[in-house]
Amino acid sequence: MRIRSASGRYQVRMAPGLLDLLTVQPGNRLLVADERFADRLGGLPAVLVPATEDTKTMAGAERVVAALRKVGCNRASTLVAVGGGVVQDVAAFAASIYMRGIPWIYAPTTLLAMADSCIGGKSSINVAGQKNLVGTVHPPAEVLIDPDLTLTLDVEQRVAGLCEAAKICFARGPRAFDRYMVVSIDPACDGANLAPVIALSLASKKWFIEVDEFDRNERLLLNFGHTFGHAIEDASGFQVSHGVAVGLGMLVALELAQLQGARLGANALRLHRHVLELLHYLPFPPCRQSRLDPDRLLAAFDKDKKHSREAYAVIIPDDSDRLTRRLLPRDQATRQAIGRSFAAVLHMP
Ligand SMILES: NC(=O)c1ccc[n+]([C@@H]2O[C@H](COP(=O)([O-])OP(=O)(O)OC[C@H]3O[C@@H](n4cnc5c(N)ncnc54)[C@H](O)[C@@H]3O)[C@@H](O)[C@H]2O)c1
Ligand SMILES: [Zn+2]
Repeated sequence: MRIRSASGRYQVRMAPGLLDLLTVQPGNRLLVADERFADRLGGLPAVLVPATEDTKTMAGAERVVAALRKVGCNRASTLVAVGGGVVQDVAAFAASIYMRGIPWIYAPTTLLAMADSCIGGKSSINVAGQKNLVGTVHPPAEVLIDPDLTLTLDVEQRVAGLCEAAKICFARGPRAFDRYMVVSIDPACDGANLAPVIALSLASKKWFIEVDEFDRNERLLLNFGHTFGHAIEDASGFQVSHGVAVGLGMLVALELAQLQGARLGANALRLHRHVLELLHYLPFPPCRQSRLDPDRLLAAFDKDKKHSREAYAVIIPDDSDRLTRRLLPRDQATRQAIGRSFAAVLHMP
């Protein structure tokens, strides 16, 4: 697949064994990799990082920049990222600011990164305790997907990736969503072939990022589930992973849509059932350990960067399953409706 972006076209290739191919290529490169892959990097110079939210921070990016400098990278060098969304975010951000931008190649290793984040070019860094507050748009020069890497993912990671893929396909429209329901896999099934769901999800996302790379109109719809999801991640102290939080966030958005007077269409109802089924595969209730505090949830929702001073921006479906961006007044009635929607999904008092 080829993706058109303001900074040129880039290719996405998917084939078993691509990771090993990548790590034998010589050249003026530095790898930034999830420490889990330390023994698969073939002795190339590498910065190994833990895949935690603390890694995608200014300090994490500085560490990568310092390593680029130390191994003598210049504007002709390439940064190679190997890992899930955390590694992607810190590597893409560092590549976008080092010497005002150097190319980077991405080998995603989680289903979420393969089916969603590897294209689109966004990098996001957590600053001042707020998730994804700072970022850049710096698309990769190439994306290499090795679907065999999904074989080691646990059920939670497969559920997380499927939640994002379901979101993208639902947002794209009824044809993409119908096809998603056919190719989606049972997350408990070890060894399932995830290539078809990855390919469909990327083909569906491609439309959004090509028509609106800089997130002004259509691409905003891909935030479906995210404003609520980020609040759940935040209020759980990041115990709930991103993709799972997005799944829960979509359920909250569907509750809110109904409180706003929408009648869910057939596909919104199918999506609701599907996400509930996916979440049931988790070996723990998604909001384990952390009884989510309703005030903390609302506070986290309130500070989301997508809202304006006057209105909360939410993405919810209309009666015909089309996602729409709605601006709700920042008043007590809206906050109550949002609180009720969170409570309905998270079973809070
Ligand atoms: N930039 C974007 O467009 C974008 C989009 C979506 C999400 N994100 C960000 O991505 C992050 C979440 O990323 P993620 O869910 O891809 O995972 P992750 O990078 O947080 O990794 C999750 C866990 O999976 C492990 N892991 C990675 N690959 C594995 C493999 N092949 N087998 C077994 N375990 C493996 C990691 O070591 C880690 O323990 C969040 O910070 C989110 O905000 C960014
Ligand atoms: Zn996401």
